[in-house]
Amino acid sequence: MTVLETERLLLREPQLEDLDAFCAMEMDPDVRRFVGGYPRTREEAERRFRNGRRHKTNLPFCSIILKAENSYIGRGGLHPMPGGAVGLGFYLARPYWGRGLATEAARAFVDYGFRELKLPRIVSAVEVGNAASVRVLEKTGFNFLRREAGERRSFDHFELRNS
Ligand SMILES: CC(C)(COP(=O)(O)OP(=O)(O)OC[C@H]1O[C@@H](n2cnc3c(N)ncnc32)[C@H](O)[C@@H]1OP(=O)(O)O)[C@@H](O)C(=O)NCCC(=O)NCCS
Repeated sequence: MTVLETERLLLREPQLEDLDAFCAMEMDPDVRRFVGGYPRTREEAERRFRNGRRHKTNLPFCSIILKAENSYIGRGGLHPMPGGAVGLGFYLARPYWGRGLATEAARAFVDYGFRELKLPRIVSAVEVGNAASVRVLEKTGFNFLRREAGERRSFDHFELRNS
């Protein structure tokens, strides 16, 4: 069940026991500010959780567990993007922000994608204004590619190449 382990984190397959913590995160407007823009209802979050469990790829998209507390603190990993690229995403519950945990998880996923899956590159798109997320990508070695300006929301695209 454990896909990866870092100093402070277990990155493992989602389990039903994660449901309540997952929903609490998805219902938090701070967490959703730059991802979707509106908090999900409990019903929407539950549907999302169950649908997420149906998509099977060889890409790790995991629950993030803080080992010291044995608690679910968020989710993240690699996921297929339109056009065949592989994307990196990460989402943490508010109490766990600002401790370097997203960067620790992001580095582990990138390392796995390059070493084990031999991916040529990993990409990530961040809504403009999400400075913390940009910083995580920078600390993980990603480079800015381009800005995609939309009417309501704009995105910055980043990539990291396997060297
Ligand atoms: C983005 C997110 C995952 C970051 O998690 P985290 O564990 O706090 O990230 P880290 O602690 O590893 O790194 C955050 C960095 O951003 C910086 N940062 C945080 N808020 C910032 C802000 N408003 N402006 C500038 N920098 C900021 C921190 O100082 C830190 O950089 P540093 O190590 O150089 O000091 C977390 O805020 C989150 O889950 N947000 C909601 C979901 C989301 O937006 N996900 C990303 C979708 S692309």
